[in-house]
Amino acid sequence: MKILGIAGSPRRGGNTDLLLAEVMKGAASKGAEVKTIILCDLKIAPCDHCDACLKTGRCKIEDDMQMIYQELEEADRIVLASPIQFMGVTAQMKAMIDRCQALWSRKYVLKVPPLGNGRERKGLFISVGARKIADLFEPALVMVKTVFRILDITYAGELLFPGVDEKGAIAKHPDALKQAFLAGQKLVED
Ligand SMILES: Cc1cc2nc3c(=O)[nH]c(=O)nc-3n(C[C@H](O)[C@H](O)[C@H](O)COP(=O)(O)O)c2cc1C
Repeated sequence: MKILGIAGSPRRGGNTDLLLAEVMKGAASKGAEVKTIILCDLKIAPCDHCDACLKTGRCKIEDDMQMIYQELEEADRIVLASPIQFMGVTAQMKAMIDRCQALWSRKYVLKVPPLGNGRERKGLFISVGARKIADLFEPALVMVKTVFRILDITYAGELLFPGVDEKGAIAKHPDALKQAFLAGQKLVED
């Protein structure tokens, strides 16, 4: 089983990176093949709404997103990790999600599977935010669940930690990293 982790924070080694690393360790401990992509190391332009993908099912922008389409195709489990920024996912994660418009076109316009090869895919969402408000994760959850649904990726749940701000603060949480490790194991077993 292949697990693809996509790190959306611009802060390398920050809170969501630490959580994602534990999820991937948990998955690897159950024998999964794991790969993590760090979005802030890549060049991913935003969607320019050229509509070329409506005809081809392919995005014509030749940048690092082309590699991510390939990785999504090959993955059985996808873990999206993004902190909350201005009540949503990061710009890096949003650019990647918007570029999934080419996969939306495949499914809804060209009537072919958005991701090929008939795998049963499942997706997990990881997030943290500084504030402690009731709806902190709601906008991001709607977006992430939407992209998973469009890509035919079954939603497998989330790990959400409010009140986490300083770099590395998640390590002081009583059991967040443990929860992440267990979530990685569960993702492989389910
Ligand atoms: C540009 C920016 C916007 C942010 N907006 C929010 C926000 O709307 N709500 C919130 O609770 N925290 C917000 N934060 C705080 C981050 O979510 C928080 O610091 C988080 O722990 C960062 O996770 P990371 O280390 O994985 O990057 C924001 C941080 C930045 C840099």
